[in-house]
Amino acid sequence: KARVPHEEGLDHTISLIREGYLFISNRVKEFGSDVFVTRLLGQDVICMSGEEAAKLFYDPEKFQRKGAAPKRVQETLFGVNAIQSMDGEAHIHRKLLFLSLMTPPEQKRLVKLVKDEWKKAAARWEKLEKVVLFDAAKEILCRCACEWAGVPLKQSEVKERAEDFSAMVDAFGAVGPRHWKGRLARNRAEDWIQGIIEQVRSGELNAVEGTALQQMAYHKELNGQMLDSHMAAVELINVLRPIVAISTFIVYAALALYEHPEYREILQAGGKHDVEMFSNEVRRYYPFGPFLGARVKRNFEWNGCEFQEGMLVLLDIYGTNRDARLWDSPDEFRPERFRTWNESLYQFIPQGGGDSSKGHRCPGEGITTEIVKVSLDFLVNDITYEVPEQEFSYSLSRMPTYPESGFIIGQIRRV
Ligand code: HEM
Repeated sequence: KARVPHEEGLDHTISLIREGYLFISNRVKEFGSDVFVTRLLGQDVICMSGEEAAKLFYDPEKFQRKGAAPKRVQETLFGVNAIQSMDGEAHIHRKLLFLSLMTPPEQKRLVKLVKDEWKKAAARWEKLEKVVLFDAAKEILCRCACEWAGVPLKQSEVKERAEDFSAMVDAFGAVGPRHWKGRLARNRAEDWIQGIIEQVRSGELNAVEGTALQQMAYHKELNGQMLDSHMAAVELINVLRPIVAISTFIVYAALALYEHPEYREILQAGGKHDVEMFSNEVRRYYPFGPFLGARVKRNFEWNGCEFQEGMLVLLDIYGTNRDARLWDSPDEFRPERFRTWNESLYQFIPQGGGDSSKGHRCPGEGITTEIVKVSLDFLVNDITYEVPEQEFSYSLSRMPTYPESGFIIGQIRRV
């Protein structure tokens, strides 16, 4: 019987920290197998990559999320016991709540806010010597996310709240100070949002019908009970924080434009499909989510590998998006590849795979795409700018990563 490769040695956590986004794909190549077993943090872990692996990973009969995300990730990125760690009917019920907030009209309402904020910012930028696009995008998205969701936010708070949402994301692969910064940021944000939920429930604050704030404040679980105010806050943060995180893709989109100026004219023409292909290629090519984790629900065998109940399994996001079996010249930035893409739910997985309403795939993919698109449109059609010399590189061992300089632009003029 075929035996799946086992990586020798006591523990490979240090290699994971060193190799980051490439940890799984380096071994898939070395072992010539898209599934292998290694040891991380003192436990056997199955790592897998590619379309077939993604299909397997999203089978809810075989995997569960409960117990998969380390506490340190829940205490920074997700929130403890939030939707990311739920399973079965309770998960689907919670998921439908998130999806109900992200209908096309709601997407449009958010995108319009973002478009207007970019334009307002451009007027201010003309007076500045330079702007760090990453920082500007975080603040704009924070302001828009809160307004869209119905969360009151004073102008004087925007910068710190935006920094806190970003710090939660920035902590997910960190140990040491970056982790603690993320935890502090989460505690602050949870206190803030929980207070707002409580004000809505007491009638002190009026929440507009249909906004994320109102929906989270009054959401009922399957047992008919409302979420406690802390959990409602955690889930509302699960709407706000990732909108701010789109700033990472905006910076990558600006970098892609800089590295591939031949696309500027194409994007200026504003063909809907062209902008969407470019935005998809940004999400495929540049590193953001590295991998996902789940636990084996019950014993089974797949491709010669024994999946034993309770084992941790990692699905390689970065490697699947660059899998040479699925993508021609995967290490080249080529938006046109999406012209003939088959729309498989398991090949292009920057925000997870499968059907979002049936599993854990990100409910915010539509919003992400539309915000990247409107931001690209702004960069190519509403302003001109210079790109001074700076450090554009991003490290594949830092998780999450982004261009070091945050993408600096100068000489900004409105068109
Ligand atoms: C889940 C990525 C934007 C809300 C996820 C997952 C990934 C992801 C990889 C996990 C999928 C899984 O566990 O199978 C991203 C990236 C984004 C982004 C890279 C771009 C910045 C958004 C936005 C929202 C959002 C804009 C909401 C407005 C969520 C929620 C979940 C999730 C609530 C948990 C879903 C569940 O467990 O069922 N996202 N996302 N994300 N995302 Fe996103």
